[in-house]
Amino acid sequence: MRLDVVSIFPEYLEPLNVSLVGKARSRGVLDVRVHDLRDWTHDRHHTVDDTPYGGGPGMVMKPEPWGEALDHVLASGAPGHERPVLVVPTPSGRPFTQELAVELSAEPWLVFTPARYEGIDRRVIEEYGERLDVREVSIGDYVLAGGEAPVLVMVEAIARLLPGVLGNAASHQDDSFAPGAMADLLEGPVYTKPPEWRGRGIPEVLLSGHHGRIARWRRDQAFARTTGHRPDLIERCDPDALDKYDRAALEELGWYRDADDGHWRRPPGE
Ligand SMILES: C[S@@+](CC[C@H](N)C(=O)[O-])C[C@H]1O[C@@H](n2cnc3c(N)ncnc32)[C@H](O)[C@@H]1O
Repeated sequence: MRLDVVSIFPEYLEPLNVSLVGKARSRGVLDVRVHDLRDWTHDRHHTVDDTPYGGGPGMVMKPEPWGEALDHVLASGAPGHERPVLVVPTPSGRPFTQELAVELSAEPWLVFTPARYEGIDRRVIEEYGERLDVREVSIGDYVLAGGEAPVLVMVEAIARLLPGVLGNAASHQDDSFAPGAMADLLEGPVYTKPPEWRGRGIPEVLLSGHHGRIARWRRDQAFARTTGHRPDLIERCDPDALDKYDRAALEELGWYRDADDGHWRRPPGE
């Protein structure tokens, strides 16, 4: 997969050389190219921002450097792969989810446009939206000073899904939010050796060697954790995707099914 990032702080993207993403780069699974937006400015001060039309506080990123930078990046596409997905980090975008990470991990080429100031002149998004699949994406309901940290977040989530990046290819299938049986669930607690630490043991079932019981225990723990931390996930999950043991786990936690729509509802008072 090829990833291009255009930023006024290329050094902010240096963590892309480290750990899992760094290894994926050195093994050739990921081709990451970081570009300095200021290379496409033409004045002495390398200006990338200007005052907002309509007034108000803050500055807005000028369209010209972004246009030149993106034209340059697009022109470097390999034959057959000339049209990347353009990922625009913005708090006003659609939420970045595991589902979107999975979807983007299937693309051959992603271009990220982390902004600063109050964001990028809207016409840039409109211009490239006519030619490319543009995704405006938010990593959460808070506002950061720039889009570089969101790019690091998204690239790490996407890269670990690529074949050959994680040591054990199956390990992300049991993760919180993993499409399939974990789509609306959070993973429960995990343990490793020693079997006793500071007087604390580990749940007996994990030592039983009984795969069926262990799987069931893990799933029950996932329900306990999800109802505690993210009840909204259980309320919106597809009730028909749950088996009788899942239903029993939820009932044990005081949850009940809505008589009208069949969805699960949290216990009264929670
Ligand atoms: C200070 S923010 C601009 C916020 C913008 N005025 C608003 O209220 O939506 C500057 C840049 O940081 C990035 N950014 C900040 N918070 C983000 C978030 N939650 N998700 C994705 N990108 C974010 C975006 O690239 C954004 O254009």
